[in-house]
Amino acid sequence: MIESRKKDHMDICLKKDVESGNDFWSMIKLFHRAAPEIDLDDISTRCKFLGVDISAPLVISAITGGYSGAKTINQRLAAAAEKVGIPMGVGSQRPALENKKYRKSYEVVSKYDPPLVFGNIGAPQLIPQKGRTPIDVEKCKEALEMIDGDFIAVHFNYLQEVVQPEGDDHGVNIMANLKELARQIPIIAKETGAGVSSEMALEFQEAGVRAIDVGGMGGTSFSGVEYHRNKGKNEKDLAKLLWDWGIPTPVSIIECRRTTELPLISTGGVRNGLHTVKALALGADTVGIAGGILPWVNRSEEDTISYLNNIIKELRTVMFLLGCKNIEELRKQRVVITGELRDWIMD
Ligand SMILES: Cc1cc2nc3c(=O)[nH]c(=O)nc-3n(C[C@H](O)[C@H](O)[C@H](O)COP(=O)(O)O)c2cc1C
Repeated sequence: MIESRKKDHMDICLKKDVESGNDFWSMIKLFHRAAPEIDLDDISTRCKFLGVDISAPLVISAITGGYSGAKTINQRLAAAAEKVGIPMGVGSQRPALENKKYRKSYEVVSKYDPPLVFGNIGAPQLIPQKGRTPIDVEKCKEALEMIDGDFIAVHFNYLQEVVQPEGDDHGVNIMANLKELARQIPIIAKETGAGVSSEMALEFQEAGVRAIDVGGMGGTSFSGVEYHRNKGKNEKDLAKLLWDWGIPTPVSIIECRRTTELPLISTGGVRNGLHTVKALALGADTVGIAGGILPWVNRSEEDTISYLNNIIKELRTVMFLLGCKNIEELRKQRVVITGELRDWIMD
């Protein structure tokens, strides 16, 4: 069941349109600098994230593992992350924690040396769901050891869960369990496309997580993915209704920055270097990319590396036009927020 679900997600994301219909990044404007007073070659995209040096403020977000075919995808992602010098995450490790035959599709990552590797488990699995045993601290340690990982990303995907027939719909005690886990293991709290509010960010901080991945609305819609999986079932209407449910990614960055100084990953609809610049100018420390990399990683390791290097080239080009020689300067850029985004943040 889980195996086919992870494969379905990949196939649907590759073959169907599952993007949110909204381009919130275009509602953010930057101030061009006519005289850059720097040379393009002198621009550095290097920065520190979660205590390590990375070549650019980019993270390959959690995508996959746990079915035949996922090993190749994770191998290519890990090789690309090592070559480009950026962190990467694996997809939910629940399949491998439940059945050892799936471990290989994750373990392959430990053959490479990206600056950081993030394991992944679902927040709903921290509590009992439909008679299944919850994932405990020991299982999380096993998940980290499997990939020689540095942090566990605990993903909050309740939107996706409630629009599918077999989804996990228990939520009581999630935060208490997260807190207990975070006492013993370095945790990143991660949304998967519906965003994090200022109140939620504060709760995550108080639970002791080390970073937040805002996983906002505006990119891959997991309601959209479930809509395609649920064709012929009643739940498809619910999935369609909630296709664009959530807090837009740029709003989520601003919201989190209102209540926390925790490191922030801005995932959700980041597709190029210009989006990256805007996310950083709003207060994110790095951006995360999932949907955008899929067609490239599906082709080859080389295509994956070119895709990432192209984003870094775009990032450097925009930094030049803003007169920023490093990421620190980029973070101080003035931004103008227009349209619907302005309404969100004026609230
Ligand atoms: C095929 C696919 C599988 C995913 N699987 C996971 C997962 O197992 N765990 C997780 O935390 N996020 C998962 N995600 C969510 C992404 O990490 C990310 O939060 C989300 O897709 C929004 O980013 P995007 O707009 O760049 O795709 C997956 C995304 C895709 C496209």
